[in-house]
Amino acid sequence: MKIFSIVGARPNFMKVAPLHRAFARTAGMESVIVHTGQHYDERMSDIFFRQLGLPEPDFYLGAGGGTHTQQTAKVMLALEELAAREKPDLMLVVGDVNSTLAASLVAKKEGIPLAHVEAGLRSGDRAMPEELNRILTDSVSDLLFVSEMAGMINLAKEGVPDERVHFVGNVMIDSLVYFREKAAALQLSDILEQRLSGQPQGVAPGAYALMTMHRPSNVDHQAGLEQILQIIRDTAKRLPVLFAIHPRTQKNMERFGLWGALVQLPGLCLLPPQGYLQFLHLMDNSQVIITDSGGIQEETTYLKKPCLTFRGSTERPSTVELGTNFLMQDLSPAKVIAQLDAILGGQAKAGVLPPFWDGRTAERVAAILAGTFLQK
Ligand code: UD1
Repeated sequence: MKIFSIVGARPNFMKVAPLHRAFARTAGMESVIVHTGQHYDERMSDIFFRQLGLPEPDFYLGAGGGTHTQQTAKVMLALEELAAREKPDLMLVVGDVNSTLAASLVAKKEGIPLAHVEAGLRSGDRAMPEELNRILTDSVSDLLFVSEMAGMINLAKEGVPDERVHFVGNVMIDSLVYFREKAAALQLSDILEQRLSGQPQGVAPGAYALMTMHRPSNVDHQAGLEQILQIIRDTAKRLPVLFAIHPRTQKNMERFGLWGALVQLPGLCLLPPQGYLQFLHLMDNSQVIITDSGGIQEETTYLKKPCLTFRGSTERPSTVELGTNFLMQDLSPAKVIAQLDAILGGQAKAGVLPPFWDGRTAERVAAILAGTFLQK
C-alpha cells in the first residue's frame, strides 16, 4: 500500500519521522513523504529533515506564506492534482496545522482513506486556528490515532464510532526517546555561538530558562509583545534566559519597533529557531521552560522539566494533570513571575508519564494500519 505522509510545518517533522521508519520496516508498505511547503526556511524545515533522518520529500508543493486561507487553498489545489495522479491508498496527517486540514479535505474529496495521528485533542478555544483544524480533520478521518486519554473522551462525546479510534500514545515522544542521547552529546557552547544577541557568560547546564513564543494571540499585537519583554526582563534578573525566536515573533517585534529593546535586554541570549537536536539539548539542560507551544508541553512532561505555558487552556490536559506543565491565563508580569518564583523555589511538580508515551507509538500505528489494509 502506498501511504502519503503529509508534512508542512515544523511540529510535523518529528511526528512523521518515526512513522516513516515504522512504515519502511513493514512489508507491503510504501511511505511517500509529501511536503506542503507551509514552512520553507532552512531553520524551520530543512534542518529537521537532516537531523531526523527523513529522506528528501518525494513531493514538494511549495505552498508557504500568505493568509491561513491562502495557505490552505494552495495546499489543496496542489495536493488534489498530485493525489489524482499518484493514487495513494492512504493519506496520513499529523497534528493540527493548516497543512493537516488541507490534506484531510483533499483526501476525502478524492475518496482516499484518511488517518489522523494525534486525534481528539481539544482546547475548547475556537479562536485558535489549530482548534478548528483539529475538529474538522477529526470529523472526516477514517482512522483516528489518539495520544492521551482526554482525546478518547472528546471523540466519544463527538460521536466518533469506537472502531475508528485507537489509543496508541504519543508519536512525538518516539522521536524524543530515539534522539535524546544524540542531543545530549551536543555542546551548549556550540549552540550559544549561533546567538543573535546577548552574552553567553554565566549560562550553564541546569541553570537557565528556555523560552519560545509564537502563538498569534500572544505575539501578533503590541501589548502582548510588551508584556513578554517585561517578563523576560524580570526572569533574567533571576536566571539567564535563552529565547529561540520564531520568525512570526521576530517579524512582529520589528513591526512594532520592539526589536532594539529585545536585543539589548541584559541576561537574555536571543537564539534563532533551533534544530531538533539543539532544542532537545536545550530543554534537557534547562531549569525551567516558558512557552506557548503545543508540543513543548508534552516534551517537558516527558523530560520532567517544569513548563510555564502562556495559554489559558490546553488541548493536552495530561501535561497539567499528570505532567509538569502550568498554564498561565493571566500574563501580567507580576502573576507570571510569582509562578516562576514558586517553581524556582521548589514548587515544581514531580510529574508522571501519561500511558503509552514510551517511544513505540509509531510501531503501534503501523501494526494497526497493516491489520486494516494489508490483511484484507
Ligand atoms: C504554524 C502552525 C502552528 C505551529 C507553528 C510552529 C498553523 C495554523 N499554525 O504556525 O500550529 O505551532 O507553525 O512553528 O498551521 N515563516 C518564515 N519561515 C518559515 C515559516 C514561516 O519566515 O519557514 C514566517 C512567515 O512570515 C509566515 C509566518 O512565519 O507568514 C507564520 O507562519 P505560518 O506557517 O503561517 O504559521 P506559524 O505561526 O509558523
